[in-house]
Amino acid sequence: MKATAVAPANIAFIKYWGKNDEELRLPANGSISVNLNGLKTTTTVEFSKDFKQDLIIINDKQNKQEMVRVILHLDRVRKLAGIKYKARVISKNNFPTASGLASSASGFAALTVAAVRAAGLNLSEKDLTVLARLGSGSACRSIPDGFVEWFEGKNSDSSYAVSIFPSEYWDINIVSILISEKEKKTGSSEGQKLAKTSPFFSARLIKIDEKIKKLKQFIKEKNFAKFGELIEREALELHAITMTSTPALIYWQPETIKLINLIWEWRGKGLFVYFTIDAGPNLDLICQNKNLRKLINKLKTVVEIKKYIVSWPYEGTRLSDNHLF
Ligand code: DP6
Repeated sequence: MKATAVAPANIAFIKYWGKNDEELRLPANGSISVNLNGLKTTTTVEFSKDFKQDLIIINDKQNKQEMVRVILHLDRVRKLAGIKYKARVISKNNFPTASGLASSASGFAALTVAAVRAAGLNLSEKDLTVLARLGSGSACRSIPDGFVEWFEGKNSDSSYAVSIFPSEYWDINIVSILISEKEKKTGSSEGQKLAKTSPFFSARLIKIDEKIKKLKQFIKEKNFAKFGELIEREALELHAITMTSTPALIYWQPETIKLINLIWEWRGKGLFVYFTIDAGPNLDLICQNKNLRKLINKLKTVVEIKKYIVSWPYEGTRLSDNHLF
């Protein structure tokens, strides 16, 4: 059977960085994100007894490293369904892969939902998030709708994601800024393995549950200033950990720092915009919808910005009838 799923990328407000169990992808801490309508992956999967081997094409390319990870994931689905058929997988992103724009999240969310349906399985949303997590941790947060919390959990079954607020709860915008389309040297899976070598990692974990609680409260109250301050500090904390890992990782480029300073300058002049940064040089800017136009006008004056993508909070992963083959 053939099935297609469309999954949004998500941007984390509280970050997932460091694992308690590498193989099961159990995170060292819980995290919170929102789905982005502007960054999506569409994936079609078909299992058939006629296929001699798995065929995987992502963004018109066959990349060996990505293929290994996808086949491992297909094996998980085959095992659950009790089938041995090989698969054909075609996947397309509408944004550059591995540029810090969270492509593994939407990629594994779409793959999970499409493969599960193509294999004839019927899983609950919770079980889909558990399965997606095994492919890529952040992918579990792209399955439920809107604002999502991923509980760290003590074992595979208790490490899952749920929607905490629907997408229309808060009219904020997320502007993903592209300053570099280069694939990063150290991907997030590799970078995370180093997290525990940072002397600040254990300090981060002491306060993280309190931080998660506060963030949820700020979203609930729609307290944009408190929310913004917290997510900025959180992003800087993640990068403080990468920079103090052994070996050290610096994901930023000079343009990243220029943008950070500009945002602080604009904020000083009354434009309420905050940033977050994942494991890459690009920034995601968050503003209230009423300030979006003003922000875009400012961004147009910054020559370092190659491209920007405006999103709003969005639904999670959905099945689609628009198959890619
Ligand atoms: C910085 O989900 O890509 O984006 O589980 O090893 O595939 P793996 O890691 P991944 O890590 C994402 C890290 C992050 C923060 C976040 O999304 O929470």
